[in-house]
Amino acid sequence: MWKYLKKYWFFCLIAPLFMIGEVSMDLLQPDLMRDIVDNGVLKNNFDIILGIGLKMIVLVLFGALCGILCGVFANLAAQQFGNDLRKDLFSKIMSLSFQQTDKISTGSLVTRLTNDVTQVQNMVMMAVRGFVRNVVMFVGGIFMLYRQSPTFALIAACGLPFVLFFVSFFLKKASPLFAKVQKKLDGINNVMQEDVAGARVVKAYVKEAHELKRFDEANDELCNVNLKVQTLLAFMSPCMNIVLNICVVTVILVGGLTFKTGGDMTPGRIMAAITYLAQILHGITFMANIFQTFTRAKASADRINEVLDCPEIIFDGNYESVPEYKGKIEFKNVCFAYPNTSGGYILDNISFTVNEGETLAIIGATGSGKSTLIKLIPRFYDAVSGEILVNGVNVKDYKLKDLRDKIGIVLQKAELYSRSIEANIRWGKDGATPFEIKKAAEIAQADGFICNTEYGYYTNVSEGGHSLSGGQKQRLSISRAVLKNSEILIFDDSTSALDLKTEAKLYEALNKEYDGTTKIIIAQRIASIKGADRIAVLDHGKIEAMGTHGELLEKSEIYRDIYNSQLKEGDR
Ligand SMILES: Nc1ncnc2c1ncn2[C@@H]1O[C@H](COP(=O)(O)OP(=O)(O)OP(=O)(O)O)[C@@H](O)[C@H]1O
Ligand SMILES: [Mg+2]
Repeated sequence: MWKYLKKYWFFCLIAPLFMIGEVSMDLLQPDLMRDIVDNGVLKNNFDIILGIGLKMIVLVLFGALCGILCGVFANLAAQQFGNDLRKDLFSKIMSLSFQQTDKISTGSLVTRLTNDVTQVQNMVMMAVRGFVRNVVMFVGGIFMLYRQSPTFALIAACGLPFVLFFVSFFLKKASPLFAKVQKKLDGINNVMQEDVAGARVVKAYVKEAHELKRFDEANDELCNVNLKVQTLLAFMSPCMNIVLNICVVTVILVGGLTFKTGGDMTPGRIMAAITYLAQILHGITFMANIFQTFTRAKASADRINEVLDCPEIIFDGNYESVPEYKGKIEFKNVCFAYPNTSGGYILDNISFTVNEGETLAIIGATGSGKSTLIKLIPRFYDAVSGEILVNGVNVKDYKLKDLRDKIGIVLQKAELYSRSIEANIRWGKDGATPFEIKKAAEIAQADGFICNTEYGYYTNVSEGGHSLSGGQKQRLSISRAVLKNSEILIFDDSTSALDLKTEAKLYEALNKEYDGTTKIIIAQRIASIKGADRIAVLDHGKIEAMGTHGELLEKSEIYRDIYNSQLKEGDR
């Protein structure tokens, strides 16, 4: 965190200086008040009352100016610190590998990016403003109290250990609860995230009451922990006030007694001493609040650091030459299991080669590992053992950007963003011309429906693509990948929502325009892949058979079963 604060050292330095100015003015007031009472009011001297009164007003104005400047500089430091931290955290979250994001929930990442950063930002604000204010108030107050009478300072010193005991006692009890509060916030954000994104499913299954209950539970948990913290802290202030009032009464008694017995004491001094005592003890009470903010911010800082310190798992390689092939993929004895899961391999000893310009289709039961297999090619995950080569080079040797630039991938779940259709497609290639975008959409059989929308290519897609049908979303995702014009095209069940006629037209256009591109096509329907050069049948993470449609009908029982279950007699 220091790294982020260091940049704003000037503001962090100047803000406390102004704060010292403000507090000094506050500390001078009771002293002046004493003079007004002792030398002005009690001696009926109007000139002194007027002179000191004016002095007090000037000091108040100067203090206010210092206070304003301190606030401005403290805000400059805290806001910019928070801004930088949030940016870096977001960029780190973007760079996390799938393996890492699988571990931390989306809701928790959102809490860290918002609430946790705010907590740390508040701490910076408190540190450069509140902390300095109260330290100066405390030390200066003791000094000024001593100036009124050393006995008064002694009374304050006797009260001090009690105050410190209460502060440390309550904070020690409360601090583990702060981390809990942030965790419970994660819980709420998780439920919110899922329910807002999945609102349609919630409504379709009339699960509003169920989800409300889930939200209420998460909310109640947060409320309970917060209540515990606040109840604990609620004890703190009254305890401190008891100590303060005992000290005040003692000062009045001792001061009054000294005055009565003709000692060196005046009513103005007693008044000033009471104000200083209040300032000292309120300083400590505020300090307790500041420590509370610090403790809370420490919990948040730990959670932010947990993300910022996530080690890089998927490293860039240093291959920079031009590979021998263009679009060749080889799997050599690849085994894979998802990190932090028990059970065997999801992919077990997979070996195959897809040659340049070849189309390999993959078919297999749901959960057989098809999506997992293709995720290893752009290194969304790394294989546990074995090697994956693209163009004859191990994928781990490429710079990630170089590797991913070679691949146009359409994931199983079409992801679209709330921007225009054109902007969604353009993601495939920066600086693509409108002609190129239209061409990609034509290949993906998307141009027709796009032109029928209200603003054509400039129609806005709603968040998550909810304004589009499943097949439309798939076709836009395909347009995006096609526009990329990469060496390898991967479709993960990307035409499942299209009718067979549209799907056939799409593949026809694709094969015509991108004949030399290597393609891997995952599909559940035999009709979608019949024309592929080769088809791999995946079964429980193993390749059961590989060959053309005709060959597989001969040799693969699983393929035959799928075929028989899908095609009517007349289609054979
Ligand atoms: N991120 C993940 N973490 C842990 N396990 C996972 C993860 N993703 C998938 N799996 C598991 O890996 C196995 C293979 O999943 P995969 O998505 O590759 O199947 P698939 O063949 O694509 O299925 P489908 O046809 O339904 O898309 C499944 O048992 C699944 O539960
Ligand atoms: Mg899949």
